[in-house]
Amino acid sequence: MRLAVPKETRSGETRVAATPESVKKLKTLGLDVVVEAGAGAGARFADADYAAAGATIAPDAAAMLKDADIVLKVRGAAPGEIAQLKSGAVLVALLSPHSEQAAIASLAGQGVTAFAMELLPRISRAQAMDVLSSQANLAGYKAVIDAAAQFGRAMPMMMTAAGTIAPARVLVMGVGVAGLQAIATAKRLGAIVSATDVRPATKEQVESLGGTFVAVMDEEFKNAQTASGYAKPMSAEYQAKQAALTAETIKKQDIVITTALIPGRAAPILVTEEMIKTMKPGSVIVDLAAGAGGNTPLSKPDEVVEVHGVTIMGHTNLPGRLSTDASSLYARNLFNFVSLIVDKKTGALAIDWNDEIIKGAAVAGAPAAAGA
Ligand code: NAI
Repeated sequence: MRLAVPKETRSGETRVAATPESVKKLKTLGLDVVVEAGAGAGARFADADYAAAGATIAPDAAAMLKDADIVLKVRGAAPGEIAQLKSGAVLVALLSPHSEQAAIASLAGQGVTAFAMELLPRISRAQAMDVLSSQANLAGYKAVIDAAAQFGRAMPMMMTAAGTIAPARVLVMGVGVAGLQAIATAKRLGAIVSATDVRPATKEQVESLGGTFVAVMDEEFKNAQTASGYAKPMSAEYQAKQAALTAETIKKQDIVITTALIPGRAAPILVTEEMIKTMKPGSVIVDLAAGAGGNTPLSKPDEVVEVHGVTIMGHTNLPGRLSTDASSLYARNLFNFVSLIVDKKTGALAIDWNDEIIKGAAVAGAPAAAGA
């Protein structure tokens, strides 16, 4: 069986779905691995290293995809790529299932079995395959590093002969995987950190990292988490109370990292223009939700803008700004997923449609009985 790793085609995508390390592991499953020339260049993995790990280097995607049984990608396939996949092929990638329904329909039409890694159930058995976590963790780290680099002041308190520098105040809004890493990173840099979320479970997590938890803790807050651990959209009344508390908190902050997301919906607006006007000149907002509509109405996807003296950073692919680590973790996640769908003895596809991980991630090609 042939497993193909094309070069990513989406503009600005620096990551790659396999590394020389993961190629070695994929080979132990009995797979022939083909990597497109230059696929790892954006993440600093050379063709020669893939070849040394046992991969064949293909000069272009078309030649490689037409007889690939499994295709690993970072971002969903573009229409041109979908047309190149053979019927019966398996595609494993981030497929943006909530927004890219047309692409998913064409994959199904093409006879491709497609797994959207965003839909993997957040259960412990799936943790080693959880690309949302591996990438969000790096995004949370990079958000703080980007903010610190942009900020015209130091992060920690410094007592010097020339006087004392006050520590920076950092507010993290949304305490999922990215938010938790942002809190930990800002603490390590010496900032005074507070954080907010609508899920009650996050209060203890914030406090255990040395942050202060700031939220309206009413009855609605106590029930704001779905059975699968995600945030629910909050009522207009709750959002108004939360906004009043945020308005009070935000004017004292130097750096605000927003990470609030609700799967399949536009990101909630947490920081309004009025609030931004109250922030000190030189403050920095990093909006990790910029690609999903933004947690502030002023953030612009993939742009750094200055509004009312505040810099708002809207990079939509923060993991891609740490492309080597992001690719290494992503590639390991995908290797673990591929191990689940390949028979290790024969190297043939063996998809267990009763497995909840498989059923959860499948967006095209599942047998009707699997109920995916
Ligand atoms: P996410 O990326 O979907 O959302 C980020 C954060 O924004 C969440 O904490 C969410 O509660 C928060 N949020 C949404 N609306 C908000 C609002 N109006 N105000 C403030 N915050 C708001 O979340 P992520 O990082 O994907 O994590 C989702 C859940 O999955 C969490 O409970 C996480 O702990 C859990 N998880 C479980 C894993 C497992 O294997 N058991 C692995 C990874 C995550």
